Amino acid sequence: MKPDLRGPVSLTQYLTEERRAGYGDTDLIQLLEIVARACKRIAVATGKGALGGVLGEAGTGNIQGEAQKKLDVISNEILLDANAWGGHLAACASEEMEHPQQIPDAYPRGGYLLLFDPLDGSSNIDVNISVGTIFSVLKRPGGHRGRVETSEFLQPGTNQVAAGYVVYGSCTLLVLTLGHGTHVFTLDREAGSFILTRRDVQIPEDTSEFAINMSNQRFWEAPMQRYIGDLLAGKEGPRGRDFNMRWVASMVADVHRIITRGGIFSYPLDSKIKAKGGKLRLMYEANPMSFIVEQAGGAAHTGRERILEVQPEGLHQRVPVILGSKNEVAQAVRYHTDA
Ligand code: AHG
Ligand code: MN
Ligand code: MN
Repeated sequence: MKPDLRGPVSLTQYLTEERRAGYGDTDLIQLLEIVARACKRIAVATGKGALGGVLGEAGTGNIQGEAQKKLDVISNEILLDANAWGGHLAACASEEMEHPQQIPDAYPRGGYLLLFDPLDGSSNIDVNISVGTIFSVLKRPGGHRGRVETSEFLQPGTNQVAAGYVVYGSCTLLVLTLGHGTHVFTLDREAGSFILTRRDVQIPEDTSEFAINMSNQRFWEAPMQRYIGDLLAGKEGPRGRDFNMRWVASMVADVHRIITRGGIFSYPLDSKIKAKGGKLRLMYEANPMSFIVEQAGGAAHTGRERILEVQPEGLHQRVPVILGSKNEVAQAVRYHTDA
């Protein structure tokens, strides 16, 4: 029987109890604690803003052809440095690096692979709107010991052993799943520790709120045009009720709203990004978010298949994303399958 836990449960206590219950091993727990600690450092850097000299452009570009902000580069370095020495990881992959980063030879190599979007919502840094970090943990396929090949990372999202995101907002939150439920931890800034504040989050199955970048409307494919058109038609349309709209342009913030009060989020395919396959990256944005959302009772789909079942072909591969409240995602998917 579980002891009657009084008082706040820290991330360390939560992870230790998970391990005792058979979810994860000491290496995974160390990995997650190190990622959480690195995110505290990113929260500090983000929180300093102009006083820390962290705003503005880095003057460099990443492999995706995107201009890097100073905080993209700083956050990537914080995560890489924190994860180098623990002995739990075989390699890291990041939005900001073309190839996986091997664990330096000076340190032992472990059995896990870590992928991250070090700073999600970069366009919001300089305007003081919530940004975040997204991460995904996979096991290194068995039998390998030497250099990690990119192909070892190319596992479907169903293989993830843990995933999480941290939102650097009015408070700093860590949302985490180890594959049995999604849980929210709030950073106690004075004590410096993450405290469990919501266990087993459940996303409402129905919603009247959607999140999409409407400025791309004319470039979407026909099924998405029809679906959003029907939401906009409101009470007078086929859905028979009015819908509200939100778009933060930080996936972490939009997903966190959905985790909290339900909703549907989409970054669909459009004619401008068709050749790239979508906007959001499968391995370190769509997959971890889909795992978290599914573990909270929601759904995540490309319009053609369940995101977690997409067989990855590249580290920086992009996919269309439709995720959130289960019944609403099913509605949106129906427009695609009917087409
Ligand atoms: P990143 O800052 O890591 O490149 O990700 C930005 C993503 C995602 O967070 C957000 O939902 C989307 O891009 C916003 O795109 P638009 O600016 O096209 O609306
Ligand atoms: Mn991102
Ligand atoms: Mn990013």
